[in-house]
Amino acid sequence: MKLFLDSAKTDEIKWALEMMDIDGVTTNPGHVKASGKPFLTVIAEIAEIFAGTDKPISVEVNPHLDDWKEMVIEGKKLAAMSPNFVIKLPAIDAGFKAVYELANDGIRSNLTLVFSAAQALQAMRMGAHFVSPFIGWKESNGEETTHFIDEVTQIRNVFGFETEIIVAAARNTRQLTNSAVVGADIITAGLAVFKDGFTHPYTDVGLAKFQAFWDDTPYE
Ligand code: E4P
Repeated sequence: MKLFLDSAKTDEIKWALEMMDIDGVTTNPGHVKASGKPFLTVIAEIAEIFAGTDKPISVEVNPHLDDWKEMVIEGKKLAAMSPNFVIKLPAIDAGFKAVYELANDGIRSNLTLVFSAAQALQAMRMGAHFVSPFIGWKESNGEETTHFIDEVTQIRNVFGFETEIIVAAARNTRQLTNSAVVGADIITAGLAVFKDGFTHPYTDVGLAKFQAFWDDTPYE
């Protein structure tokens, strides 16, 4: 399972690249706002961090767009900025059509805001390179998600679609583990989730004990 960082903060992205060789980045308008930088400025900075790699960076079109032609124009403009950019489009009628048109031009897209297996199927049919089923939001709404990801994966496998599935909006290490167990292609999460995946309270307790033993023992 590949790990993508869900963030537009360049300090977090650099840390995740250096410390855990993160496999890619997903951004959204919320992450861009949280970066405190203008949209085009911050995505250019992220592109620079990954220049020379083949790691994908999802950048989202203006969420006010509801005309597929305008989505395609903006998608092409963004795709021209960096070979790493993948165009993130919302799962609305125009978004599906824009995915299709961009795919015909060889531009990769990531269909986002996906909450049903039917939406994921439509995205795959239209040629989405990635599809992002959101598990965190569904779980906050009291919905189960393991079966959801299983269904999306089964649809992809049964019909041989090439779309990669990004388990999105993961909030904790349980979701990270569950995604790995069901064989998800990719999970995207904030840095805190991945950092939590490195830690356990017993590791700290054990390390402190071993340090005490070490200090009580001659080295030579
Ligand atoms: C995924 O690609 C999205 O950017 C993300 O997971 C959305 O959820 P969040 O911003 O609520 O974490």
